[in-house]
Amino acid sequence: MVTAAEELHAGPVTLRRWRPADAGALLRAVEESLGHLAPWMPWAAHGYTAADAEAFLAAAAEAWGTTYDYAIVAPPDAIAGSCSIMARIGPGGFEIGYWVHPAHTRRGYATAAAAALAREAFRIGADHVEIVHDIANVASGAIPRRLGFTEVTRRPPQEERTAGEAGLDVVWRLQAPPSR
Ligand SMILES: CC(C)(COP(=O)(O)OP(=O)(O)OC[C@H]1O[C@@H](n2cnc3c(N)ncnc32)[C@H](O)[C@@H]1OP(=O)(O)O)[C@@H](O)C(=O)NCCC(=O)NCCS
Repeated sequence: MVTAAEELHAGPVTLRRWRPADAGALLRAVEESLGHLAPWMPWAAHGYTAADAEAFLAAAAEAWGTTYDYAIVAPPDAIAGSCSIMARIGPGGFEIGYWVHPAHTRRGYATAAAAALAREAFRIGADHVEIVHDIANVASGAIPRRLGFTEVTRRPPQEERTAGEAGLDVVWRLQAPPSR
């Protein structure tokens, strides 16, 4: 079976497979980002502890092969966020997820990460990739739009609704690798 690369070049950033030794750096990055993540990410809505970071990294190690979780690393060596491709949308499909530390936003990092993840998903055999975000999450929605995804549906959320969300998910799909 073809698996995703452990490291991907994504324009200004590098995507590097999370490893257990990252627990301290992950905890620090999430703690510094909590106020910015909590409106959108259920796992950030109730605080975040060292045990949460360790559990995420253990689950990420276990899931490699179906879910690929990467640190977004900005030069020279800063954890600027996290992103994933997840084989959870049926045969041939990968969903892309991302968050970026507030000190690193508006620099194109999430767009570059999503483009690299989409290319990697197609390389390992995907026939489509999707990005899903709440309709109120304008920043997240800009990413698939910029990368040439097509909006395919709007539907009720499948996960716990968080404080910033309006309660309507927008689903975007791409059926060939992005050109940028
Ligand atoms: C959504 C998120 C990942 C965007 O990360 P980013 O690295 O800043 O994104 P990019 O720099 O690639 O921005 C792409 C475009 O999105 C739009 N955008 C980004 N942040 C925005 C904001 N706060 N408000 C409005 N538009 C925004 C802009 O059009 C931006 O392009 P521009 O800076 O040239 O104008 C980041 O804001 C984040 O982590 N948010 C909290 C977690 C989250 O919502 N994750 C996604 C859940 S579906």
